Amino acid sequence: MKYLTLPTGDRMPALGLGTWQAAKGQVAQAVTEALRIGYRHIDCAHVYGNEAEIGEALATTDVPRNELWITSKLWNNSQMPEDVRPALKGSLKALGLEYLDLYLVHWPVQIRSGVTYPQSSADLVPWTTEHMLETWEALEECVDEGLVRNIGTSNFSTKKILAIQERCTLRPAVSQVEMHPYFQQNKMRAFCAANGMVVTGFAPLGSKHRPAHQIKTDEPSLLDHPHILSIAEKHGTTPAAVLLGWAVARGTSVIPKSVNPGRLQQNLAAADLALDEEDMTAINAMDAGYRFLDGAHWMMDGSPYTPENLWDGE
Ligand code: A2P
Repeated sequence: MKYLTLPTGDRMPALGLGTWQAAKGQVAQAVTEALRIGYRHIDCAHVYGNEAEIGEALATTDVPRNELWITSKLWNNSQMPEDVRPALKGSLKALGLEYLDLYLVHWPVQIRSGVTYPQSSADLVPWTTEHMLETWEALEECVDEGLVRNIGTSNFSTKKILAIQERCTLRPAVSQVEMHPYFQQNKMRAFCAANGMVVTGFAPLGSKHRPAHQIKTDEPSLLDHPHILSIAEKHGTTPAAVLLGWAVARGTSVIPKSVNPGRLQQNLAAADLALDEEDMTAINAMDAGYRFLDGAHWMMDGSPYTPENLWDGE
């Protein structure tokens, strides 16, 4: 397994297991199987609603804690400074852990305290840099307290990360964003490389397990793209392994979700796939600026969030 080094010197396994939409009743078994076959990085979030089941699997593993990498995320309704520590403690309790390796601000979107998903624009609070800096300061205190070793962002633009970086004490260590051949995040990669940060890509396989209302009818497929199919055939591997191997070869980390033992194995094998220059060039040419997860669910009538102010044109 390849590892990526963070500013603290901590080493994140490049290939991890995503757990969004991993159902209760399936996820504990999937995490147990993943750890058994060699995964050491599990990507979680409070809002996925399955941290307690993941905790059950972590409780029974004989992998030492210092060989595991566990990420979780602060949900959008807990960004008020006084809510940050309780939210982190809640994830730790559910996961049965003393500390997290990484805690991310899940979205640059604020939801009113007490509301999990906004029912109307009245549940959303407009985004401000000042507000995020207060959230960030509360996260820094959690690092000081030893509750988490590294902090970062998810779904943030480079512009929003820079606004934190310019005024914080502890800089963001990781930027987790959607990343795959149709949305290659070259600006984010360059920004993170210049700032000693690690990029983690979600939805590397196209995230076909999203809720139906988030799936567009004309979505392009990654797993069936002719370039991906022919590269997979050339290396005697699967299309998923090609997509994941590409991410690892670019020096990013990647967190495919699966609850299926065969696919867990296929995906893990990608960490050791040696793609050649010709393969990388063909995949790099697929960039289309296409997001599968466009954040439209934050943009109901009257919402303060728009594609422009959410993504900052990135
Ligand atoms: P499953 O959990 O049944 O394996 P992403 O990581 O881009 O969000 O995509 C996850 C989706 O892709 C899930 O529906 C998952 O289903 C499926 N998936 C995971 N691994 C593979 C694979 N190797 N080949 C095809 N589909 C996969």
